Amino acid sequence: MKKPSMTPWSVSGDIDYNKLTKEFGAVLLDSSDADNSDLHHLIRRGFYYSHRDFNAWLNAAKSGKKVSILTGRGSSEKMHLGHLIPFVLSKAFQEKLNCPVYIPISDDEKFLVKPKLSLEEAQKFADDNILDIIALGFKPGKTFIFKDTSYPIYPLAIKTAKLISYSTAKAVFGLKPETNIGWTFYPAVQAAHILFPQFKSGKHHTLVPIGIDQDPYMRIARDIAQHSSLGFQKPATIHSKFLPGLRGSSKMSSSDEGQDVIYLSDSPSEVKNKINKYAFSGGKDTLEEHRKHGGNPDIDMSFQYLKYFFEEDDKKLAKIESDYRSGKMTTGELKKYAIDKINAFLKKHQENKKRAKSSLGKFMLKN
Ligand code: TYM
Repeated sequence: MKKPSMTPWSVSGDIDYNKLTKEFGAVLLDSSDADNSDLHHLIRRGFYYSHRDFNAWLNAAKSGKKVSILTGRGSSEKMHLGHLIPFVLSKAFQEKLNCPVYIPISDDEKFLVKPKLSLEEAQKFADDNILDIIALGFKPGKTFIFKDTSYPIYPLAIKTAKLISYSTAKAVFGLKPETNIGWTFYPAVQAAHILFPQFKSGKHHTLVPIGIDQDPYMRIARDIAQHSSLGFQKPATIHSKFLPGLRGSSKMSSSDEGQDVIYLSDSPSEVKNKINKYAFSGGKDTLEEHRKHGGNPDIDMSFQYLKYFFEEDDKKLAKIESDYRSGKMTTGELKKYAIDKINAFLKKHQENKKRAKSSLGKFMLKN
């Protein structure tokens, strides 16, 4: 087993998700609870697996109280499928529960953290990423997007900064003496994001869907939320596991020349080549063996992508799983099914993204 390592900036090795939840003081999500499992297949299938105060947020939303959702993106590059996960859930909840969604884009964070990224590049990626996010189908008038370097977040960030000691930030984020001071300040900015809906419209329940790597910011924001100078509700969170990389790495991320990643801008032939060439297979070496012993969908990336993202129909997914396990379905057939599903999603996404340009003004938060 590769030694696991996880910070908000990088993830490697084999992640023990249940252990992380325990270490972070969160709670495992009961995906069999009907209230939860009916909400979304990402919850029903255990991809969102951990939380704090999620059910309190859900009850408030269902009983018509003021609630909000907040989740963000750090714009260091073009977006891939993994980055979409919190936005997919946020959009589905917005549709179901009709709540506002706030989306900060931390171009400042990525400029500070990535040695080779210029501020102009981070801002450019921000503009491109925003179109990808809008393309998911968020509601205009109920969705508020802003970029840190063009929205006045600073007056809020100094309010949170005053409540976060250097030793807390150091303990939570492992800051080193050589870390630049912009980076050491950034946790105050993300804490301001997490509390942003309450800064804007007063005390209420906010839900923050994130990959578990972003939890350190949540802990800080929750610690300061009820301070007398703010008087807020502790924000709730729901954590996802990571969408794995094509070759089976624990988190899809853009290292290794894109061999582990499906970008939202990939063409149908790029997707086909990547799945056929790199997607880790749970199939047997020969067709004969596969027919006899069957494949293992639990380690097969094409199946994992169908399970967590592309096959929403539980019955179809169960049939694919049992056919693959029994050897009735071959690896080639499974890969083809996944390629077709991914390409159908990306075709629609890329069309929506083109259209998103003209509606940008309806989503960007004015000062
Ligand atoms: P970023 O841009 O690295 O990632 C955006 C969100 O996507 C999640 N994520 C993944 N989830 C599942 N599988 C993957 N392979 C995968 N890769 C990324 C991340 O956990 C994250 O939730 N600092 C943040 C941006 C941010 C933010 C916020 C997030 C700014 N303000 C407020 C939440 C709340 C970041 O760099 O995320």
